Order: sequence, then C-alpha cells, then structure tokens
Amino acid sequence: MSTSPVDPTTTPAWGELYGHYQEFRGDLRGWFADDPGRAERMSHTAGDLFVDLSKNLATDETLELLVRLAREVHLPERIEAMFTGEHINVTEDRAVLHTALRRAPGTQPPLVVDGQDVDADVAAVLDQVSAFADDVRSGGWTGITGKPVRTVVNIGIGGSDLGPVMAYEALRPYLLHGLEVRFVSNIDPTDVAQKTAGLDPETTLFIVASKTFGTLETLTNARLARAWLWEQLIAQGAIEDDADAKQAAVRAHFVAVSTALDKVEAFGIDPANAFGFWDWVGGRYSVDSAIGTSLAIAFGPDAFRELLAGFRAVDEHFRSTPLERNVPALMGLLNVWYVNFLGGHTHAVLPYAQQLHRFPAYLQQLTMESNGKSVRWDGSHVTTQTGEVFWGEPGTNGQHAFYQLIHQGTQLVPADFIAFANPAYPLTDTEGDGKTVPAGADVHELFLANFFAQTKALAFGKTADEVRAEGTAEDLVSARTFSGNRPTTSIMAPALTPSVLGQLVALYEHVTFTQGVVWGIDSFDQWGVELGKKLALEVAPAVSGDDAALDAQDASTQSLIRYYRDRRG
Ligand code: F6P
Repeated sequence: MSTSPVDPTTTPAWGELYGHYQEFRGDLRGWFADDPGRAERMSHTAGDLFVDLSKNLATDETLELLVRLAREVHLPERIEAMFTGEHINVTEDRAVLHTALRRAPGTQPPLVVDGQDVDADVAAVLDQVSAFADDVRSGGWTGITGKPVRTVVNIGIGGSDLGPVMAYEALRPYLLHGLEVRFVSNIDPTDVAQKTAGLDPETTLFIVASKTFGTLETLTNARLARAWLWEQLIAQGAIEDDADAKQAAVRAHFVAVSTALDKVEAFGIDPANAFGFWDWVGGRYSVDSAIGTSLAIAFGPDAFRELLAGFRAVDEHFRSTPLERNVPALMGLLNVWYVNFLGGHTHAVLPYAQQLHRFPAYLQQLTMESNGKSVRWDGSHVTTQTGEVFWGEPGTNGQHAFYQLIHQGTQLVPADFIAFANPAYPLTDTEGDGKTVPAGADVHELFLANFFAQTKALAFGKTADEVRAEGTAEDLVSARTFSGNRPTTSIMAPALTPSVLGQLVALYEHVTFTQGVVWGIDSFDQWGVELGKKLALEVAPAVSGDDAALDAQDASTQSLIRYYRDRRG
C-alpha cells in the first residue's frame, strides 16, 4: 500500500466537517429530549465492553462525517496493513504486530511476516514464559540457597514497566497468596532503595525487562539490584565472596526479558532464562509480550492467556466491525473531532475502579508517546493539531480534586468514565449514617451512583432556573449554574477480570492508532525521547565535577549544575 499519508484537511469529509462545525451547537439536553433512541443508537459493544457514546458532543451527522473521514484517510486499509505485518512503522521500517501476540492459537493460515513464522515464535515464547511462571509459582524454581521465590522485582521503565505495574495493580485480587511483585523504574536511587528494603535476598527474583537492554535507568537499576543481592547474600553467609558464587547467585536470582539476548548474557543472566520478543512489538504495546512475565508469575499463565484472549476479542472487533459500529474507531474519531474542531486539548480518563489507579499513567505513554508528533510518516509536517494530553485519576478521588474544572471551567475536557458492574471486594456499610446512607448499603452501589451521577451532571448541567427554583439567592445563581454539554464516554463491563483488562488496553491501543492514521503520523516510533537521553549522558560529567564539561553548557544549565555542586553533601 502507498506509504504517503493522506492529508486529512484536503479530504471532502474534512471540508464537510468544517461546515458542520460552523453550524454546530452542542445541546445534549435537547438531543436527548427530542430523540428517545439516542442512547441506544449510540451505544455499542466490543467484546464484554459496553460503550455509551451518546453523551458526546456529536450528532448522527457528526458521526457519519467522521466515518467518511476515516474512509477517506484509508483507515480500513491501514488496519489491515497493521494486522498483516506491513511495515507501517515507516520511520523505523518495521512491522507493527502487537496484535500477533494475542492471535488465537492455531489460527490458519499462520502469520508469516518478513520470512518469520510469527505465530510459531510467539507460541514458543509464551510456552517458555508459562513454564517458567509455573515453576516459580510452584516453588520449583529456587534461589541460590534452595528457597522458593516470595518476591519478584521487575526492573524496567516506560513500556517495560507501566504496562506490568498497571496490570498488576488492576488484577491484584487474582494474586497468588504469598507472592508479591514490586516494580523498580526510576533512576532516582530512592526507587531501588525503597523497593529492595526489607526483602530477603534468598527469596527474591529480579526480572530485568528491557526491549533494548540498553536503557540507562534499567541497566543502572539492574546493577544496583545485583550489587544489593551480592552484598545481602554475603552478609547473611549464604554465599562466599568470590566470583563463582556471585555468578551463580545472579543466575539463580535474575532473569531477563529483551530483544537483545546477547546483552542479557553479558550481564551474567543465563540465556536459558531470557525471554525474547521482537522489534515489531513497540515498548508501549508490549505488556502482552514476555514483558508481562511478572504478571504470568503473579496471576498464573492461565490468567495471562485470559488477558491475551481479552486483547484478541477487541482486535477482532476492530478488524472486522463496520466503522459505524466500530468502538475503537468511533472513539478515536470523536477524539479527532474534539482536538481538531471543538478545541479540546486534553482528555481525561476516569476509572471508577481503584484497581485501575495506574491506568491513566499507562495510557499517557500509550497515547502521548504514540501521537505526540508534528511530522507525518513521510517526514512532512502535520496539517492539524495532533495528540492531546491524556490524564486522570480514579473516581471518586478525582471528584474531590479536579472535577470542578471539568464541570465549570472554561476548557472543554472530553472524559472517559470506566466502571464495572461487580466489585472485587463486595462490602456493605452495615451501620449506614442514619440519613443518606441506609444501614446495609452496598458500597459498590454508592460508588457506581457517583459514576452515573457525574456523567449525567456533565452532560445536562443545571440551568439558572433550576438553581433559582431551589431558592438560591440571585447573586449566587450564576456560580451554582452548570452549563452541561461536557462530553463523556461511558465504558462498562461486568467485572475487572484479566480478559476485560486486555479488552480495555486493546481498545485504547486501537483508539490511538485510529487518531494516528487520521493525522498521518507514525504512532509507533518515539524519536522525541532520544534527545533527552543523549543529553543526560553528555551532561553527566559536568554534574560530577568535570569543569570543562560544565563550561560547555548553556548559562542556565551551568548555573543549575553549580547550585547542585555547591550544595551536595
Ligand atoms: O522512553 C522511550 C522508550 O524507548 C519507551 O518507548 C520504552 O518503553 C522505554 O523507553 C523502555 O525501553 P526498553 O524496554 O528498551 O528499556
């Protein structure tokens, strides 16, 4: 297929969307009052996800035009190109095949890309990870002194951390009793110091997770962890202070996940305990690869395969559902509508599930590292605004923090609300408060009532007349009036199971892809993070005392480094 992106602004659909926008007036109250079928018509399912788009600032015409835009920028063809392994990561000349990590076992014909039998390779690594996870869970894998593993420490950053930590927190109720996973990511030494504090080295297993095995933070933390292991084992008299014992300790307490298996071996890790993946899996799309080894250990290989099956359900939906009912495509297109026409520059993700407290952070990398670009995949400049800022916190906490701005501020903040019908911990408030909360109240229902109430308040607001009718003094009426027309998407599922988590992640992967295709950008490279990495290495000598290196810095950087050097302990 052609590698030239279509300039969306030159398409007929864009022109019509612009005309539509000029006459557009959001009126969720009126639309719902006049159209009893709106909620049903604009609600769709993808796997177990029920997605209500009806509280978005969009009419049927808006959606029709957006779908036309998707066709005119060849979204269906790009979807097919991704699933079949074309090199749609143009700037790195790579296929983009995270969807291959979750294809149904035995799918025919097998996926062969660039001469690689992708299905066979994926299955082999998944089997290897599963066998290893079972070994650790059963106590078959032991540390240097023969004790089973109690704590797994995943060392990684970015996609090698955010996905596993998000999923670990989300699925904690499924955790094998007696096992704990900790995550070290930051090169701030506090992170490794705090995460190793209190651990028994004899029962600790480190997973060094790094696609490239060249990331400064991860390799530094891995060396710190290795030094900690040796020091602790020697101090406990568990090993001798000699090279052979140290090497044996590393082989018993470190495994790795990487595409660079030669570097893994150089670190001292037994290559038999290195789980591979491939350059066609982007870091932020890798939680479903061997990068999820910590999850397979924590929750078991079966749960990990369920997670993959969840991803697959939404992959199949995205690949085969007509755009008019295609949930990731519609959500992505609505985001384009907000960014490029209605002036929304941020997007809130508000899970009403404490277990999803790291989901917004995970989505920040997925969406912003993918679509925070100003050139298109052919090197030309974009012709529109691109990636919006994703952010969020779990409800109801956010309600008591930043919702004020979403309700009554001057900025348009489209928001995704996510909730589950069944809680992980069904609890009852046996006493109640004697007033609004009755004795025996189901706390999950109180929680969900907030979820439903917020999207309702944002959509329909409260008019000045309604405020007056409550007896509010005239001088307070405007402060207590809510404009409404604040757009939300509600996403519900029966429960936060491994499968549903996979579905949610796949949903956002494909939302992100859809937006990237419209904007003509390569959502799979991340050149923007390279400069900072390179400069950090250049600046490091100046920080640690090299005056010539200090003199080479700009005046502001020199002054900041001097501030540090004058005060360091
Ligand atoms: O931040 C840039 C980045 O390359 C991410 O895309 C990636 O997830 C992260 O660094 C970690 O990279 P690696 O897994 O190679 O250590």
